[in-house]
Amino acid sequence: MERISTYNVGSESYLIVLDDTHKVGHREDTTVSFKKIEDYIKVAFGSDEIVYRWGAQNYSPADSLPYIGTSPLQKNVYIATGFEADGLIYGTAAGAILSDLITGKHNPWAEVFDPKRFTPEASAKKTIKENIDVLAHLIKDYLVKGSEKEFASVNIGEGKIVEVRGKKAATYRDESGNLQVVSAICPHMGCVVHWNKAERSWDCPCHGSRFAVNGTLLEGPAFNDLENALDEK
Ligand code: FES
Repeated sequence: MERISTYNVGSESYLIVLDDTHKVGHREDTTVSFKKIEDYIKVAFGSDEIVYRWGAQNYSPADSLPYIGTSPLQKNVYIATGFEADGLIYGTAAGAILSDLITGKHNPWAEVFDPKRFTPEASAKKTIKENIDVLAHLIKDYLVKGSEKEFASVNIGEGKIVEVRGKKAATYRDESGNLQVVSAICPHMGCVVHWNKAERSWDCPCHGSRFAVNGTLLEGPAFNDLENALDEK
């Protein structure tokens, strides 16, 4: 397993187990990831009492160093992100750097983590790989066609991409048998969202935005919800 730790809340003790990383939207059957961890807990700790399950996002900057400092986009806004799961170290560093920036003190590390830095050499490999990946998804996912007839084949608790009047629609059937149909086009940069089976969400494989089954934005970089698939434009 990637990481195991304990966590106490009052007199309750919990075990936290992390594993099975994959890119957002790149694995539809995410139940496999949860099962792998649960099987491990059963064997290693003899317990099958799972109280919480969740998938978290781990942001990874192109040059692998977090962005800590003033926002390149807004005035008087300070940011600290891209810790790649090393929050203990970078969270502490962010506290020191940001407090110095706010109080006008010199901090020797501020330049290294500056969100406005430009590091073409260190970033090139990852940037090129990610952009090829985005392009591949844009092309592949737009070619996939599922006709409106497929509405009937969407089972309870399942999500599927189908075409409605020539537009891609993210379709989910809820526990009462009703269909929820929203646009499958991510409002960030237009990729087609993918179904996340374990967490019942629509996840974008391009830059990781996530949406609830009714299209509500759960996590950026998108700022807006998925549109109503049946709206005419
Ligand atoms: Fe969906 Fe960028 S296109 S997150």
